[in-house]
Amino acid sequence: MMKKLALFLLPLLFSGYLSAQELNSEAKKVFIDNLLSKMTIQEKAGQLRLISVGGDLTLDKVLDNIEVGEVGGIFNTIVEPDLSQMQERALKSPNKIPLFFGFDVIHGHRTIFPINLGIASSWDRSVMAKVAEISAEEATADGLNITWAPMIDITRDPRWGRVSEGFGEDPYLTSEAGRIFVERMQKQSLADKKSLATAVKHFALYGAVEGGREYNSTDMSERKMFQEYLVPYKAAIDAGSRAVMVSLVSVNGIPATANHWLLTEVLRNQWHFDGVVVSDHGAIRELINHGVASDAKDAVRVAIKAGIDMSMNDEYFLQFLPELVKEGAITEDQLNQACRRVLELKYDMGLFSDPNRYLDPKLDIETMFSNNRLHREEARDVARRSIVLLKNENKILPLARNKKIAVIGPLANSKRDILGSWSGAGRTNLAVTPLEGIKNTVKNPKSVSYAFGANLSDDVNLYRFLNLYGENTKFDDRPADKIIAEAVNIAKKSDVVIAFVGEAEGMAHESSSRTDLSLQASQKRLLKALKETGKPLVIVLMNGRPLTLTEEYAQADAMLETWFLGTEGGNAIADVLFGQYNPSGKLPMSFPNNVGQIPVYYSHLNTGRPRGTENMGKYTTSYFDSPNEPLFPFGFGLSYTDFAMDFSLSSPEMDKEGEIVVTVNVENIGDKEGMQTVQLYLQDVTASVSRPVKELMGFENITLKPHEKGKVKFTIKYDMLKFWNDKMQYVAEPGKFNVFIGSDSTTQNKQTFTLLDK
Ligand code: NOJ
Repeated sequence: MMKKLALFLLPLLFSGYLSAQELNSEAKKVFIDNLLSKMTIQEKAGQLRLISVGGDLTLDKVLDNIEVGEVGGIFNTIVEPDLSQMQERALKSPNKIPLFFGFDVIHGHRTIFPINLGIASSWDRSVMAKVAEISAEEATADGLNITWAPMIDITRDPRWGRVSEGFGEDPYLTSEAGRIFVERMQKQSLADKKSLATAVKHFALYGAVEGGREYNSTDMSERKMFQEYLVPYKAAIDAGSRAVMVSLVSVNGIPATANHWLLTEVLRNQWHFDGVVVSDHGAIRELINHGVASDAKDAVRVAIKAGIDMSMNDEYFLQFLPELVKEGAITEDQLNQACRRVLELKYDMGLFSDPNRYLDPKLDIETMFSNNRLHREEARDVARRSIVLLKNENKILPLARNKKIAVIGPLANSKRDILGSWSGAGRTNLAVTPLEGIKNTVKNPKSVSYAFGANLSDDVNLYRFLNLYGENTKFDDRPADKIIAEAVNIAKKSDVVIAFVGEAEGMAHESSSRTDLSLQASQKRLLKALKETGKPLVIVLMNGRPLTLTEEYAQADAMLETWFLGTEGGNAIADVLFGQYNPSGKLPMSFPNNVGQIPVYYSHLNTGRPRGTENMGKYTTSYFDSPNEPLFPFGFGLSYTDFAMDFSLSSPEMDKEGEIVVTVNVENIGDKEGMQTVQLYLQDVTASVSRPVKELMGFENITLKPHEKGKVKFTIKYDMLKFWNDKMQYVAEPGKFNVFIGSDSTTQNKQTFTLLDK
């Protein structure tokens, strides 16, 4: 069929009426019109159905459904022989429409990279690009066409377990990550042999759930949405993301899945998104619980009218769409529109010309999971760049490689935890634990002793929660005192103690909100006992969210945030502990002192009564029992060396057409080579609406040898000064702007310029 079409359209190209691109889009239109004209309503509804094997839907049932043309896409299968079989059956369906295959490729595929909060901690665009490219390469080699990623929800409430999947609290940093993931996964075009289509998620505001409680409602002014929370989605769509996954939560009273304003007025009409809108797992059914649909059929009507194209794991689209069309509750045009978008995506993926383009039936399971398919070197490099040094008293780190070392803690030798959540295609047996990494690095592995030290928690309910679907987190049922005594014993015989504490990976996942962000009591007891030995104590944190760590911060001689670092995590931690890599990570989320401060984020508005440094008394914006500031601010992270910075502006004023160049002089004033992330923040001092005290507007990395000097430049352009004004227009207003340069968001290193009224 494709060949015939080409013959028909080719003369138009040579006659000069159509460019090659137009020819392709014309050919696509003709092809899809033709296909749609042959499809029954049932088949059209089938194309909108995205299902996975599981529960009642056995592989055989799925294959039968595929063959009758009732499935558009499959997700969650990553075993090649099954994928090939499914595609073979799709090609026997009435109109031979190929399937696409999707999966959550969140932070790597076979090679697991750090969780996204870790990747964000690198503040390094090349790191993000590397992760996205390798992920796409590995996923497409496994037969996948699309991923439900990147997750670019702004997250300012660490009680929410899914902060681990995103890139933190800041619109600019998250937008950069989102843009890079989309560009590098999808490549220039989906015709590229290794391109993986992206479905950015979760549109919108999932990260703003009230109280950090999973699946809860969100309520936010339009100004805050457009100014902050919607910014990363817009950036990802501008970068060309071919799909969007819709959030499970309600946005200003209307569930996102039923929200016409969000899905049609904003996404389609204002942002001109013409890709596929996918509902999240079971979201159509959930509209009944949300109270905006009376039954399943009504839920389908509401969802499709709001702007959903494909339904994930819902039977209802297939069950009720044909009926709804027959009754006239939705028009066939509406159904065609959704179906067309799915077919267009498949067309652009090249599936109509080569349905097996990513499939390799020769790929057996053993090869699929083998070590030699991994990108270990890259994983190690990304992982060490994602580590954040939070404290280093008396420069206790880096450690000499000939010390006697006690490696202690429930996370020190856990292969499962270091991979983090959403690592479904990764294999725990291929992961390197911190204990292994340290033994690989020291002069004599016998100088390293290990003890479990404590269970992750004393709470049996937590274990039940973590092990609901199989034993993920091991519980040592010896008496707690005995486990600690063993650890203390080896600590006493060592020169330094390295304690690995934090969360099990399952505590920082979907459906894992918490109200208490401190370390579990069992781990606190362990740390206290280790501290009492008087040995230098290095606390290495493994966790998927900011925790409250005031006590541990006081106890530690040195402290590292390592998140869940992935396949090569253990080696990467050792690289930093022993100085093969000088830590350069910076926090992408503020760490609160206590849960009561939440939300705590750097880019807040000023109040009429800000708590100044001198005026700490009554009647200011403050708590009487806590500071306002977080324990660790956004952008914070130490190095084994020190840097000095000063900066100048190319001009004290600019107009609409102008720009200001910020030149930053950076000097490494320590004695080790290291990398600094220079951060640019702006503040619009006076405007028609209150503007944040600071907003990140740029960052650049510079690596300098001891005592070396270098320069970093930023260019401030008119567009960077725009915001949503009092009339909800996106404009820049003349007046004074503060420019801050520094190594974290608390910097007071400031200069001012004026935007002229011309
Ligand atoms: C539900 C999650 O919310 C979403 O992020 C994920 O992509 C789907 N499940 C599919 O696994």
